[in-house]
Parts: sequence; structure tokens; C-alpha cells
Amino acid sequence: MTSAADSSASASGALLTGEFAFTDANFREIARIAKAEAGIDLPQSKATLVYSRLAKRLRALGIRSFSDYCTTVRENDDERNSMIAALTTNVTRFFREPHHFEHLRKSIIEPIAESARRGNRVRLWSAACSTGQEPYSMALTVLSVIPEAASLDVRILATDLNPHVVAHGRRGCYQKEEVADVPAGLRSSWFGPDPENPGGSTLRVDDDVRSLISFQELNLMGAWRFKGPFDAIFCRNVVIYFDRETQNTVWSRLTSLLKENGALYIGHSERVAGQATALLTTDGITTYRKKNGRPS
Ligand SMILES: C[S@@+](CC[C@H](N)C(=O)[O-])C[C@H]1O[C@@H](n2cnc3c(N)ncnc32)[C@H](O)[C@@H]1O
Repeated sequence: MTSAADSSASASGALLTGEFAFTDANFREIARIAKAEAGIDLPQSKATLVYSRLAKRLRALGIRSFSDYCTTVRENDDERNSMIAALTTNVTRFFREPHHFEHLRKSIIEPIAESARRGNRVRLWSAACSTGQEPYSMALTVLSVIPEAASLDVRILATDLNPHVVAHGRRGCYQKEEVADVPAGLRSSWFGPDPENPGGSTLRVDDDVRSLISFQELNLMGAWRFKGPFDAIFCRNVVIYFDRETQNTVWSRLTSLLKENGALYIGHSERVAGQATALLTTDGITTYRKKNGRPS
């Protein structure tokens, strides 16, 4: 495959040349759909990435060019969804940015533990959960303070646009090397053999952890069927793919579902901006708390 700078390619309208013809018009159509359906912003600098992620779809479908693929996507909602899923970046790991889980434990879970034991409701949300390592890290943090959480009114909502990663999270099986990121005490208490692969390279999260979490498909661009209010929301490393205006809308919507004093955790390269800032105060690196009372 050659670069967009290839002069003969640009003369013929091709953006990239390679196994499949890929024109500027194809890229623009794909970028328009990704933006409209999932908020994902694809500048032309991402053309190579789009090509390589979608080439797998073309091969799987036996399609010979991106023009034919665009026709399929126009006519077939399922393929449109598969295209969006293929364009998502799902990198994640257990206890990614550990300071957020420290904050969750000390500033959110420990202060409400007694109230939870009396039967009061605790709700957390992982709003772009990928393959589940983030909501499981949240659940393990809760269990480190309230080991009996599964028998209380404590629930974690874990959502993502991509159905494949949601299914992976729901299954709760991970390579042993990945699980090595989990602190040793929590690892030995809450992981066991994978029943489908006993003695193999994967471990499964125990049922008491899994039962705390509800994995569901949800597009942050669409309607949200959850009302909260949430004690804490993790929305990390997803709005980075959205344009500024879309980011600000997401921050406002998330903030409106937080309890007073509830925490919002965001990715290391993200910042809350727009209207939500009037309702939030910073409480550490990429950690925000919802203010009490009316916006100032
Ligand atoms: C890089 S992962 C972040 C996972 C986790 N939050 C973390 O920080 O480790 C980004 C996730 O956002 C999801 N995503 C992208 N656009 C989305 C949208 N519009 N609605 C919901 N999820 C979306 C992707 O499917 C992907 O799993």
C-alpha cells in the first residue's frame, strides 16, 4: 500500500493503493458515517488506519473494492454496525491509571460503605468499558472495601458501543498475563480457573464479581436508558475520538447523571470543558467531583 502522497494514485482519485481500491470519496463517506453514528472523528490522517481496519471486513465479505463496500454499508445496517465496531480502538487493561481506583476506594466507596451495608443504593458506571477490565477493576475496588457487596444494592453498569467487547466483558475470561496487573491480594481472592479452559492460559473472574456488573451495549451518541444517579462514572479514553463539541455534550450529559459529590474519572489526555465545568470541581489528576447545590 502506498501513501496518500502517491501522485499517480491521486490522479485517479485513489487515496491509497493496495489490495483494495480506496478513493477519497470512499474515505469521506466512511468518515461521515463514523461521525454521525458514533461521534468518531476521522481526519484524513487516519486514512491508513481506516484502510487496514476495514480491509479485514472486505476480505471476510469477499468484496473487491471500498466502493463496493460503501454500497454494502449503505444497504445493510448490520454491516454498518460491524464497520463502526471495526473502527473502534479497544485498548484497555486492569487498573489502568491506578490513581483513579485509589480515589474511588478512599473518596467514594469507603465513605458510603456503612450506608451500603444498611441497604442504600450504590451505582457506578463504566461508560466505555471495552473488554471489561475497567468495570472489573471498579468491582474489585468495591469488594476490597465491602466484600459482601454482591448481596447488597451495589451495581456497576458497564456499556460500550462495540458488541464484541461487551460480550468479552460479560464472559469475564482473561489471559493470565493481563490479570497480572491486578493487585496480588485481589487476584488470589477473585479469579479462578476458566471453566471452558481449565489449566489453560486464561482465568475467569469469580461469580461474586461478575454479578455486580451489568454489561450492555450503549452508544454514547444515542439515547441513554439509564437515569442514575451514579456515585461515580468512569468515561476514560473514549471522548478523545470525538470532536470538541461532541466531547462537551458528553461531559454535560454524564455530569447530569452524577450524584452530588459523585466522581467523574476521565482519560489522562482528556479535559472536561463546556457547560459541565460549572457543575464540577477538580479533585486530583483527571478526577472531578460534582459540586453541591446550584451551579455558580
Ligand atoms: C480505548 S477504549 C477505552 C476503554 C476503557 N475506558 C479504558 O480507558 O481503558 C475506547 C472504547 O470506547 C468505545 N466507544 C467508541 N465510541 C463509542 C460510542 N460512541 N459510544 C460508546 N462507546 C464508544 C470503543 O468501542 C472502545 O471500546
